[in-house]
Amino acid sequence: MDNLICQEVVSAYRELDASGRLRLMGTFCAHGDCSVLRHSLGVAYVGLYRCDERHLACDRRSLLVAALLHDYYLYDWHEDDRSHRLHGFRHPGCALRNAREDFSLDDREIDAIAHHMFPLTPQPPRYVEGRVLCMADKYCAIYEMSYAQPYEELYRMVCEETCASVDEREAGMASTDTHAAPWRRRRGTLPGTRASVIAFLLRHTLSTERAI
Ligand SMILES: [Fe+2]
Ligand SMILES: [Fe+2]
Repeated sequence: MDNLICQEVVSAYRELDASGRLRLMGTFCAHGDCSVLRHSLGVAYVGLYRCDERHLACDRRSLLVAALLHDYYLYDWHEDDRSHRLHGFRHPGCALRNAREDFSLDDREIDAIAHHMFPLTPQPPRYVEGRVLCMADKYCAIYEMSYAQPYEELYRMVCEETCASVDEREAGMASTDTHAAPWRRRRGTLPGTRASVIAFLLRHTLSTERAI
């Protein structure tokens, strides 16, 4: 992974972590056995990487904030609960509500969080930050279903920078592992071929994976 981009992500996480509930995201599962926190860090990294690669004129801070908060819904969508129905359609709104409770967001950040699930949300992102986030989110979701412990280098940097003690860090990482699917614990990778095929196609069309 690119160390400078990792440092940018860690720095943004540290700032948001000071006044928000980002650590809670480490206890909820996103895709595969990847926590929402790890997923959000990955989306922030891939988003910045794509901006640099394509020389896109984007507000890096807005992209980082939106990426780290885009799934700030703070519940386990795998639980059988009425309020979690239609999670794919409804969680951007929930994440945005939580984020606005804890942080002051600008228009680009609000737009990117609210529309990151496009085309499930009918309106596409308006700004470049949101479009980059929308693509990075989808790429990361598929990447995470195919590989155990994604973005490990970045995740460890965040843990080392922000956790008060080794115990807390280990507890945080263990809490992620409690959501590991049984097959993931046994085999380390997703069985079947569908996710692998999709990941293979994306690897060649986006050419981002080499940076992770
Ligand atoms: Fe999301
Ligand atoms: Fe996401």
